[in-house]
Amino acid sequence: MTTPGTRSELPVVLLSHRGPVSFERDESGDRTASRGAGGLVTALTGLVSDLPDAVWVCAADSEEDVAVAAEREGKAVQVALEPEARLLDADGDGTAEGTPTVRLRLVEVEPQAHDDFYTVIANPLLWFLQHGMYGLALAPVLTKREHAAYEDGYVAVNRLFADAVIEEVKARGGRALVMLHDYHFYLVGQAVRERCPEALLSFFLHIPWPGPDAWRVLPPAWREQLLTGLLGNDVVAFHTEGFARNFLLCAQELLGLPVDLEAMTVQVGDREVAARHYPISIDVEAMRELAASDAVTGHAEALREEFCGQDRQLILRVDRTDPSKNIVRGFLAFATMLEDHPELAGRVSFLALLQPSRQDVPEYADYLAEIGATVARVNAAHGGEGYQPVDLRLAADLDLAVAAYTVCDVLMVNALADGMNLVAKEAVVVNRRASVLALSENTGAHQELGAFAVTLHPFDVQQQADALYEALTMDPGLRRARREAAARVVEENDIAKWLTSQLNDLGVTPGADR
Ligand code: G6P
Repeated sequence: MTTPGTRSELPVVLLSHRGPVSFERDESGDRTASRGAGGLVTALTGLVSDLPDAVWVCAADSEEDVAVAAEREGKAVQVALEPEARLLDADGDGTAEGTPTVRLRLVEVEPQAHDDFYTVIANPLLWFLQHGMYGLALAPVLTKREHAAYEDGYVAVNRLFADAVIEEVKARGGRALVMLHDYHFYLVGQAVRERCPEALLSFFLHIPWPGPDAWRVLPPAWREQLLTGLLGNDVVAFHTEGFARNFLLCAQELLGLPVDLEAMTVQVGDREVAARHYPISIDVEAMRELAASDAVTGHAEALREEFCGQDRQLILRVDRTDPSKNIVRGFLAFATMLEDHPELAGRVSFLALLQPSRQDVPEYADYLAEIGATVARVNAAHGGEGYQPVDLRLAADLDLAVAAYTVCDVLMVNALADGMNLVAKEAVVVNRRASVLALSENTGAHQELGAFAVTLHPFDVQQQADALYEALTMDPGLRRARREAAARVVEENDIAKWLTSQLNDLGVTPGADR
C-alpha cells in the first residue's frame, strides 16, 4: 500500500466469476443483453463504467457470451449500459455518446473444466467449508474425482483467468489496480504478481473466512496453495474483522508465517500483506427509486390485497435456494410458532420468494426438493378454510421482491452463515409498514443491524419460533423506531463508502496510469 497522502492514478482491471452483462438470443434470433443484479455488480459497474482504460474480466456464462467472445477473438468488448445493455461495434467509440459503457473480457472456459471448477470445488467444497456446513461424519469425501477436479478444474481455471488478467495488465504497461473477487479465484493474485510485479493487487472475499481448524478438512497441499495464492495480493479484504483475523490465524497456523494481529498484517518474505474489512452495502438511492417505480408499486398493491388485510400480518423471506440460507429450519420455526400460538392461524402468512440456485450441484438440487416437501407438510398441517400458511414462489423477480420488502411485517434472515446478507439492508431502507428484521447472528449484517433486529439463532428452531412471535407482537412504536434506526445505518454506510474506503486505503484513484 502507498503511504497516506500519496495517491497514484491507476487503470483498473477487475475480475469476478459472474460479470455485469450476459448475452442471449431471443425467439426471433436477435442478440439481447441483460444486466446482472445485485450490489456488487452495481458498485463495480459504477467504478469501471466510463473509465476509458478499465476492463472487467469475467466468465463467458452463456452460449451467446461465448459467441461474442469468439467474434472478437477473445479480446475485450465494449458494452453500453443504458437505456438497455447493448454490445457496441468493435471500435466502440461514438456509438454510445452520453451513456455509461463498460469494457468486458469474457473468458471462455472448456465445459468439463468449468464443471470441475464450479460444481465440484468452488460449490460445494469451498462454499460448504467456509459456511461451516459439513457435519464431517459423512462429508466431504475427497476421492480421485475431487483431486482431479481440483487440478484440472480449480487450478486450471484460475490459471486461465490469471492469464487473461495478466494480458490486460501488460496491455496497460504493467501498472494497474487489479481487483480480484471471491472464492472462485484464490490462486490468481500470486500468478499475477509473478508476471506483473508492478501491479497493485487487492482481493475481496464475499463469503465467510473460517478459522484454521475448518481448513484442515482440505489436504495440506490444497490449503497451503490456496493461502499462498491469496498472499500474492497486497490486500486481502473481508466483510468483517472476525473473518480478517481468521485469515491471519490461518497464515500463522497453517503456513507458519509471522502475523501482527494489531496491525492486521502478515509478513510474506520481504512483503507485508494487509488483512482488512469493508462491509459491503447497497445503493440506497437506486433501491428507493426502484421501490417507487410503477412495476414495484403494482406488485405491492397486489401483495397488500392478498396478505395485509385487517388484522393480518406477513412474514417474508427472499433468498437463493442455498442450503446456507437455512430455509428449511425457517419453515419449521414458522410451523412451531403456529403450534405454540394457534390464535395466529389464518392471520399470519409466510411469503417465501426463492430464486433457484446452482441446480447442477447435487446438494443444491436435493435442498430445493427438501424445501418443497417441507412447505407441503407445513401447509397440510396448519392450513385450511382458505388459509395457506406458506406461499412459496420460485423465481428471480427483483420487482416482486422489492414490493414484498415494502409491505412485509417481518423479514426473516436465518442463514447458517452469510458473509454479509444484502437482503436485510435492502428491506430496511424501503419498508413502509415498520417491519421487524429477524436476523441471524451469523450474518455479517448482524454486526451493523443486530442492535435494531430480533436476533435469530440459526440452529435453534424453538428460539426462532419465539423470536418470530416476539417480532409479530412488538409494540408498533418500537418497531418503527428500530426500522428507522436500521435504515439510517445503511444510509450512512452505503455502497459508495464500501468502495471509496478501499480505494482510499490503497492510496489509489482509478484512472489512467500517471
Ligand atoms: C454469492 C457469491 C457470488 C455469487 C453469488 C451467486 O453471493 O459471493 O460470488 O456470484 O453468490 O452465485 P452463483 O453461483 O449463481 O454465481
